[in-house]
Amino acid sequence: MTAPSLFGTVLRLHKSRVLTAALRGHGLRFASFVHQEGYIGGQWVPAASGKLFPVTNPANGEVVGSVADMGEEETQAAIDAAHTAFQTWHKTTAKERSGLLRQWYNLVEEHKEDLARLMVLESGKPLVEARGEISYGSAFLEWYSEEARRIYGEVVQSPVTSKEMVFIRRPIGVASMITPWNFPNAMITRKAGAALAAGCTCVVKPAEDTPFSALALAELAEKAGIPPGVVNVVTASRGNTPAVGNLMCSSPKVAGVFFTGSTGVGKLLYNQCAQGVKRIGLELGGNAPFIVFNSASVKDAVAGLMVAKFRNAGQTCISANRVLVQEGVHDQFLAALKEAVEQQTVVGDGMKDGVTVGPLINAAQLKRVEKIVQETVACGAQVVMGGSVHSAGECFFQPTILTGVTEDMRAFKEEIFGPVIPIKKFETEEEALKTANATQHGLASYFYSQDVSQVWRVARSLEAGMTGINEGLISAAEVAFGGIKESGIGREGSKHGIDDYTYIKYLCFGGIN
Ligand code: SIN
Repeated sequence: MTAPSLFGTVLRLHKSRVLTAALRGHGLRFASFVHQEGYIGGQWVPAASGKLFPVTNPANGEVVGSVADMGEEETQAAIDAAHTAFQTWHKTTAKERSGLLRQWYNLVEEHKEDLARLMVLESGKPLVEARGEISYGSAFLEWYSEEARRIYGEVVQSPVTSKEMVFIRRPIGVASMITPWNFPNAMITRKAGAALAAGCTCVVKPAEDTPFSALALAELAEKAGIPPGVVNVVTASRGNTPAVGNLMCSSPKVAGVFFTGSTGVGKLLYNQCAQGVKRIGLELGGNAPFIVFNSASVKDAVAGLMVAKFRNAGQTCISANRVLVQEGVHDQFLAALKEAVEQQTVVGDGMKDGVTVGPLINAAQLKRVEKIVQETVACGAQVVMGGSVHSAGECFFQPTILTGVTEDMRAFKEEIFGPVIPIKKFETEEEALKTANATQHGLASYFYSQDVSQVWRVARSLEAGMTGINEGLISAAEVAFGGIKESGIGREGSKHGIDDYTYIKYLCFGGIN
């Protein structure tokens, strides 16, 4: 099932395994987990139509490889496989599931370097960040291998002596997962780790831009001994994705749908799930405020913003999006930030040593970011640095700082998803909170202050699921990740990440004399 003409040079290794010139040229040592077929019921399977779609490297437009362009038929097969596997998987002990997750974690760790390189090629993120994501992603497998054994029930006090009342937690069943390109590994492990720990099986539909990382994870799951059908991966092009997504939401065999991505798509899935009253987990877009108060350490705030903004070139749902700086430190902060951006950002192909800012995921996203900046500047914002497309390639944007930005400008109203820092000066804490909360999004928020009362006041008042206080990097397997308002429903990571994959079953023991 290969289409050599799409690749140029193709090295066939196995029915499903191909190493393109692009992959071989970048030091991937192990070809075994580079697959171009989907993974259904423990088998590597081509698309029923035989079609493939190409995956390109956003740094240079080169075709990294091609994968099966699947549709409804293969999605149904994957759901059926997951449904069948669930009948036995849910009967395994927590200790067994814990051991398998631990083995999956060990293999991801063992193949960290190759997984990271593969990710750079399809997502464009710098190698150092890709290595970081593999560690972040494997941490969810490790964490849920531990949490699997800590899913507890409750015994409640019965109001009558003839009955005993107990709650146990049961797995919901088959979980559909639709995952994004910005974290091609970690957004899968964060969901699948929790699902498997709870006793659920899953069907994963990775983003069309980054399917190779998902297929590599499936290969390692198989090697870890996770039984056929417990983890399934269906790959599909942009064109086939709506049909696949619709079936994942509407099939009576699916118990829940878990999605990370845009608010627009999240709302669509929420609607589709309503018909079957499915369990749903949504981790959607943000518009994170980053507030620097007069009492802040300016040095720490600049360091925090560099991470909160430039991680993955600003393409994360928790990227700092609206920077609010109090007038007493505004000029000092701006000068220090400009110096940091000039000295610490190196734009280029993520495979090159020293690069810290890679390309945006595709040309459409670059155009969108360019337009946001142009419209914001046309409305009166000033360009302190950057402001346009970078010469490194078709998908690169210059690290940019804009000042004099106001709430009604596009860079403040929308999630930018690019390396652009829009700054607004403010006078009072009340004003900053009003601006920060004036959005329908509520995923992450950040603020810097050394005033203890202010820290508590602001932490309580910011309308967001997560707040970094004097900290720009808040993600970890141990924490409850998620938003409020239109930023989502449910939490991933932490012990709470398991909740959505289980239901409480009430058992009433009667007739006790
Ligand atoms: C996301 O951007 O969706 C996830 C970011 C993270 O987990 O840190």
